[in-house]
Amino acid sequence: MVDQQNNNDTSAGAEKCIMVCTNHRSGLHNSCGARGSEALAARLEDEIAQKGWHIELKRSICLGRCNEGPNLKLVPGGQMICAVNVDHLESVLAKVGDFISE
Ligand code: FES
Repeated sequence: MVDQQNNNDTSAGAEKCIMVCTNHRSGLHNSCGARGSEALAARLEDEIAQKGWHIELKRSICLGRCNEGPNLKLVPGGQMICAVNVDHLESVLAKVGDFISE
């Protein structure tokens, strides 16, 4: 799992959300969808609901880092978390918790 900060996001003040790329690319191209991001999104939704957190999860189109997926992005702020799978769930939830409380 790889964390990367992107400070190009200018949407400060917007509602916080998690964008999970569930894009499928055709042919032999790598994609988050082909690497299990839908299952990851579903697990994250379940965990967020159980914790009672007020953050929306959106399934997104390609985030432009297909070879590193599954990818998700915390917005606003733009932290990208790459190469995530369900084995990383606790670590991702810790980052989401920190993000919510920022
Ligand atoms: S398919 Fe997920 S970043 Fe492109």
